[in-house]
This record gives sequence, structure tokens and C-alpha cells, in this order.
Amino acid sequence: MTRALSTPPVIPHGSLGGSPQPERGTPGGLEIRPWEDGDAPDFLAAYRDDEIRRWHTRRPSTETQVHGWFAACRRDWQREKGAHWAVARGGGSVLGRIALRGFDFDDGVADVAYWVVPGARGTGVASGALTVLTTWALREIGFHRLELDHSTRNAASCGVVTKCGYLLEGTKRSAAVHDGGRHDMHLHARVRDEGPVRSVMEGSLAGRTA
Ligand SMILES: CC(C)(COP(=O)(O)OP(=O)(O)OC[C@H]1O[C@@H](n2cnc3c(N)ncnc32)[C@H](O)[C@@H]1OP(=O)(O)O)[C@@H](O)C(=O)NCCC(=O)NCCS
Repeated sequence: MTRALSTPPVIPHGSLGGSPQPERGTPGGLEIRPWEDGDAPDFLAAYRDDEIRRWHTRRPSTETQVHGWFAACRRDWQREKGAHWAVARGGGSVLGRIALRGFDFDDGVADVAYWVVPGARGTGVASGALTVLTTWALREIGFHRLELDHSTRNAASCGVVTKCGYLLEGTKRSAAVHDGGRHDMHLHARVRDEGPVRSVMEGSLAGRTA
């Protein structure tokens, strides 16, 4: 059904979901690709890590649940609701996850999400993947604004988004439930016309479409 809008959508509906979900690479040799069923053991293992459990309240506990999760990821893409990728290096095991969720094509807004497995942290995996995702979303797809919420107690996540040019806009008081109770949340956002961010420029040069 065609919706009567007084203003045209920022991104035309139907412009994304009919195409294959793209793959990308980073200057540091990371591969960003859609989840595959063979990633299920790595995905499940990641959610056994205390830090990932601490900051993600939705967690799979069996490989069957992971396969259901991957199927939902594929539906999200086809229905233009979100995009979910594995981050790996050289065809190896999964190092992390990067996602763009809550697609709002009318306003051109979406939110990002990520985690990195313990053994790969501190080596630029999250910031490298977020740089490439940001470039793709703002410059190729035409999103206008990307957001990330993180607990004010999650200093690592704050560092990742700040490094990628997502400005801190404020604190949402008592906005989310994590293990142990309610947390205040920082709201960060990167807006399309804020000018080049060095790491974003680097990511765009290295992009490749599958
Ligand atoms: C947050 C997380 C994704 C960071 O991944 P990462 O690949 O280690 O991050 P990067 O190496 O790209 O770090 C980018 C920047 O973040 C900051 N940072 C990373 N880890 C940090 C830490 N433990 N403490 C403080 N700052 C940190 C640094 O500023 C870093 O830049 P620098 O290396 O130039 O100093 C990872 O720690 C993780 O998966 N944590 C658990 C899950 C989670 O918190 N997800 C996000 C929920 S909102």
C-alpha cells in the first residue's frame, strides 16, 4: 500500500531489500559479510563472554536459537528493517559483529550495534568495522543520521563511537535495563553533513561490493 506522506522519504522504500546484502573490507584487512549458518558456533561462543553478556540482554543459548537469529537477520534485510554482518579476517573465525538496525527510511535514521570477541579486542576491530558501516550507510545508502546508545558505565563502547565521529548528544536517564538494574544511557549520533571524519574517509576508499 502506498502511504500518503507530506514529505518524500529520505530513502525510497524498496530500494534496498531486493538486492543482496553487500560485503565490505577495511584497510586493516577485516572482512564484513552477512552471517552464514557455519558461524553459529562462533556466534554462540561469543555470548558466553561476560562483557558481551553484560551489555546485551538478548542472548542465544543454543545453536538452534542462533540459526533462528540468522534467519531473522536475513528477513530484516529483505524487509528493509536492518542489516547484520559478521566481522572476520582472512576467512578465519568470527572476530565480531556489526549491525545497523531499526531502519527508518522516512526520516533516514538507523542505529548501530557491535561486539568484538575477547581475543580480538583493542586491535581496532570495532572502530574499523563501524567506520566502514558508517560510510556505507551515510554515503551509499543515503541515511542522514546514525545513532548509538550505550550504558554510561561502558567506557569501551563510548571510545569506539567517539573515535568514529559519533558526537555525544546527552544522557538518557535510567533508560535501559541491564543485568543488575537500570542504567543511564549516553546517546551518540553521527549526522551526514558533519564533514569528513578521517577514519570514515579511509573506510570509503577501501570499500568493495560483493
Ligand atoms: C566495546 C567493544 C566492541 C570495543 O571493541 P574493540 O575492537 O576492542 O574496540 P577498538 O579496538 O576499535 O577501540 C576503539 C577505541 O575505543 C576505546 N576503547 C576500546 N576498548 C576500551 C576499553 N576497554 N576502555 C576504554 N576505552 C576503550 C579506545 O579509545 C579505542 O581507540 P584507541 O585504540 O585508538 O585508543 C568491545 O570491548 C566489546 O565487544 N565489549 C563488549 C560488548 C559491548 O560493549 N558492545 C557494545 C554495546 S553498546
